[in-house]
Amino acid sequence: MVNYKDLGLVNTREMFAKAVKGGYAIPAFNFNNMEQLQAIIQAAAETKSPVILQVSQGARNYANQTLLRYMAEGAVEYAKELGWEHPQIVLHLDHGDSFELCKSCVDMGFSSVMIDASSLPYEENIALTRKVVEYAHKYDVTVEAELGVLAGVEDEVSAEESHYTRPEEVIDFATRTGCDSLAISIGTSHGAYKFKPEQCTRDPKTGRLVPPPLAFNVLHEIEKKLPGFPIVLHGSSSVPQEYVDIINEHGGKLPDAVGIPEEQLREASKSAVCKINIDSDSRLAMTAAIRKVFDEKPGEFDPRKYLGPARDEMKKLYMHKIINVLGSDGKAE
Ligand code: G3H
Ligand code: 13P
Ligand code: ZN
Repeated sequence: MVNYKDLGLVNTREMFAKAVKGGYAIPAFNFNNMEQLQAIIQAAAETKSPVILQVSQGARNYANQTLLRYMAEGAVEYAKELGWEHPQIVLHLDHGDSFELCKSCVDMGFSSVMIDASSLPYEENIALTRKVVEYAHKYDVTVEAELGVLAGVEDEVSAEESHYTRPEEVIDFATRTGCDSLAISIGTSHGAYKFKPEQCTRDPKTGRLVPPPLAFNVLHEIEKKLPGFPIVLHGSSSVPQEYVDIINEHGGKLPDAVGIPEEQLREASKSAVCKINIDSDSRLAMTAAIRKVFDEKPGEFDPRKYLGPARDEMKKLYMHKIINVLGSDGKAE
């Protein structure tokens, strides 16, 4: 049994309370490899932003849960080396799907876990979430739960159709589960193809897809029912068109990839939304940078010569999100 406090990590309780009060959101970035982790920590250290490192099922399959945990421990020391005296870094299990998995993460030093039982019937979601909360809280590990279903398909997280969170359920759910934060469904979804073309309109000038707006009315109703309670948005990549263009210009094929406009995330950050999950944008930044090197320098075969630019591009992206979208810069001085 390793407690996250001994690793220099923090849970989400205090940082969420401050974020809700302060009208900003904490970035939750997924990581699968060293370059992503370095870019996240460099961006957080440079902007003095609290940060959540997320480990998904796909990441665990790809990189190994134990190794990722040790990498996060290393990240705390790396952040200090970069001059961030008091790093506020959370190690979070993204989309945990069973009590056993959540327990194994608590036991190995994660400071926060998500139990995603949103696909189960309501009472079963409550029962499983409650069980995880009871265990995690013994070790002061915070728990994110989910109510409502996000559409979208990724390696390990998929649902055909979304349905919005029902505001009339949130008080009962939060009270009976004791969860620390709640992921809701208001129209975001996972991956780089968040909406089908038929759900969007097209900008006549650029020909690009314009997605339907998020259901801010649902968010506001939830906020009214649970004043000050930390709300989480999954599936919040914006799918920057400049990356899609670079990828397509250098041999890639991502037609009609579309995400959540950043203005809407900026607006959400000012509300009780205090954690915003971003994974796909980092994949796009990495892929764009690597494709460019491969295309322009076909003789290059030193991985550092393409993973280095990929890391720099991801750092730029993370800093942009922190400073211009979430507003979390300077909140972990
Ligand atoms: O929520 C989904 C995340 O983007 C992780 O996806 O399981 O493919 O790593 P993944
Ligand atoms: P994106 O696919 O929009 O980056 O969402 C990531 C996410 O929600 C991870 O849990
Ligand atoms: Zn998610």
